[in-house]
Amino acid sequence: MNDLLAYFEQELPVINAFLEVETGKLDGLVRDVARYVLLGGGKRIRPVLTILSARALGYPGDDVAPLACALEMLHSATLIHDDILDGAETRRRKTAAHLTFGATETILAGDALLALANRLGAGYDIPRINYLLAEGIMATAAGEIREIAHVAEARADRGVYLEIIIGKTARLIETACRCGAALASPERELEDAAGTYGLNVGVAFQLVDDALDYISPESVTGKPEGGDLREGKLTWPLLLFLEEEPDGSEVLARIREKSLDEAARREIVARVRDKGYADRTRAEAARYVGEAKRALAALPGSREREILVQAADFVLARRK
Ligand code: IPE
Ligand code: IPE
Ligand code: MG
Ligand code: MG
Repeated sequence: MNDLLAYFEQELPVINAFLEVETGKLDGLVRDVARYVLLGGGKRIRPVLTILSARALGYPGDDVAPLACALEMLHSATLIHDDILDGAETRRRKTAAHLTFGATETILAGDALLALANRLGAGYDIPRINYLLAEGIMATAAGEIREIAHVAEARADRGVYLEIIIGKTARLIETACRCGAALASPERELEDAAGTYGLNVGVAFQLVDDALDYISPESVTGKPEGGDLREGKLTWPLLLFLEEEPDGSEVLARIREKSLDEAARREIVARVRDKGYADRTRAEAARYVGEAKRALAALPGSREREILVQAADFVLARRK
């Protein structure tokens, strides 16, 4: 994992400097919101994956930062909109943007970041990159829409859950990898390999996120523990619980009628953790990480390809 950490250390200053400059140019009404969310934390996984994918395919240019940062902007825009949709109070260890600046400013800042990301992508004059960004945004929105509809109907269905996480999370990570590949090479097979890697890493990423929601304290994740159950989200660890616990259907009914109080929720969170449903979710994620690594075989051997292997392992092992 050391090469991966060194790679982050090497690339983060460039990414952060670019974000600092670009957000500084935004209109005053949205600038502070954009800077609050973009300059105040975040693991930067997506931009680093864009850079790694480009370099793994031999891209030598020093102009990757705008594209990489476009992916971080898209991600951050979806996060601040997501926190409004989810009524979330904390993000990246801080009070959520909509509670700090108000919903109007936050919605507009998300829109401005979406637009800015597209403009940065267009700056490369590679139509494929614009197409990929558009597809990534489309899929993310579709995943969020599907999830909101799903919370209302509260059906315990692992297939639906997978569709949702592919849309809201995995596609944008796939997009990050595809964009890096498309910058480096017009070869669709190479881009597809990078995309398959990203898609599988993305599914694993969200599965692990959903496991962490039950087992990792807020002091580590920067998001409240048990938040998904509070938001009524039927994520993988909870779906296993609902399928296998004797009182599963009763709990599902109470989630549906929104009648769980804080004590009942705490008890369910503890049972999901203690009975190993979160650990089994991580084991499920490991299958996708394996699939992601297999896809890398289609890329030429390089230091960056090895670091992509480490990145897939990092997604599985992460605690925040
Ligand atoms: C959070 O993504 C949203 C999910 C897809 C689970 P990250 O965990 O990458 O968030 P930051 O960028 O590090 O805050
Ligand atoms: C993450 O979804 C937001 C997007 C991927 C658009 P969630 O709602 O599941 O993630 P957190 O828990 O808020 O980070
Ligand atoms: Mg959320
Ligand atoms: Mg959400």
